[in-house]
Amino acid sequence: MNILILGGGGREHSLAWAVKQNPKCDRLIVAPGNAGIADIAWCAALDIEDGEAVVAFAEEHAIDFVIVGPEAPLAAGISDDLRAAGFLTFGPSKAAAQLEASKAFTKDICDAAKAPTAAWAHFTDAPAAKAYIAEHGAPIVIKADGLAAGKGVTVAMTQAQAIEAVDDMFSGTLGAAGAEVVIEEFMDGEEASYFILCDGETALPIGTAQDHKRLGDGDTGPNTGGMGAYSPAPVLSDAVAKRAMAEIVEPTLAEMAARGTPFTGVLYTGLMIKDGAPRLVEYNVRFGDPECQILMMRLGGQVLDLMQAAAEGRLAEMRVNWADDHAITVVMATDGYPGAYAKGSVIRGLDAIEETSRQMVFHAGTDEKDGQIRAAGGRVLNATARGATLEEARDRAYGLIDQIDWPEGICRRDIGWRVLGTS
Ligand code: AMP
Ligand code: GLY
Repeated sequence: MNILILGGGGREHSLAWAVKQNPKCDRLIVAPGNAGIADIAWCAALDIEDGEAVVAFAEEHAIDFVIVGPEAPLAAGISDDLRAAGFLTFGPSKAAAQLEASKAFTKDICDAAKAPTAAWAHFTDAPAAKAYIAEHGAPIVIKADGLAAGKGVTVAMTQAQAIEAVDDMFSGTLGAAGAEVVIEEFMDGEEASYFILCDGETALPIGTAQDHKRLGDGDTGPNTGGMGAYSPAPVLSDAVAKRAMAEIVEPTLAEMAARGTPFTGVLYTGLMIKDGAPRLVEYNVRFGDPECQILMMRLGGQVLDLMQAAAEGRLAEMRVNWADDHAITVVMATDGYPGAYAKGSVIRGLDAIEETSRQMVFHAGTDEKDGQIRAAGGRVLNATARGATLEEARDRAYGLIDQIDWPEGICRRDIGWRVLGTS
């Protein structure tokens, strides 16, 4: 099978790493890829949001299966373009990708599906939004409707913060993403995410995870795309997971199918859990980054068969083979992230690290120049490890971190603290 993966972050490195372990994979191309991915696949320069260019590329290289990593090409309709040209594709249609691309769309689906979520209202002008805030008080959550690369949500602890967020969004700082605003009830509880493969009809859970969005130890500092994650998430017990499937995921998928826009791909279900009851925080229509890295480490090569079955509508005949294990990933970022940071610092020590099915340093934002690996982004490396216990996995992951010689790199030292404590 000739396989094309679209994307170039840690998520795509881990997807490539897992897919490559499956004997079915003959040729693997990742576009655009990065310096780590280049070790295991051919990295091709390609504008992955340009449907025509991606289809032409897939034709030229006799691609049998396309796996779409990030949300932007999905929201732009890349799966529709590829399927229309006859390519088997893992990823939802543009219509189904609205579950991530529009908060108001998702809220509307939740209402129709009677899926538990925060009470909400939708606004296209600031005065009406502010009146709603005055009526409901704080804490309250303000969200840009569209895709805002993780910057579109303000959890306002005071009314003043909420008003400021509304002004900010309608002033155009987020561009079109902020032209419409969703205001939500604040939900209390513990967050976790649930990853479910879907083929339009059948839903097959492939794991749970918990990430760490704040930059600093002890969940302090600014929000980031995620500084580390582990799987499984104990708060998403079998009982809670069962409720999430029955009350949220299955009714959502049924509603999507009834609207003529069935969801295929992976549904990243972000949940707030309180007293054993899950409520939906958000959907994403792709694997999480860095959650994907730990799921791939736990699933290995079988994930290619599972994704292929999802794309072919055969999930009902599939089973996931579980090891009773734990995985963790620790993100190394360039100092300064999520604010401004310098690019080009040299990372040493990676060559000496042994890469096995139990430990990998995935590259999230790197390039190579004159034989040296350099930082090329905010989140740069993901030290990822598996173990019989979370503690064992954590120790192995930090062992990897300690072998990386990169003075400009920073990481949290407490990934997994909810389970392991803050020693
Ligand atoms: P979202 O992009 O919708 O996932 O929001 C980003 C983050 O904001 C979530 O992961 C939560 O930590 C927080 N958040 C979003 N909505 C709510 C809510 N209604 N109540 C409390 N926290 C929320
Ligand atoms: N780690 C959060 C995300 O991928 O959206």
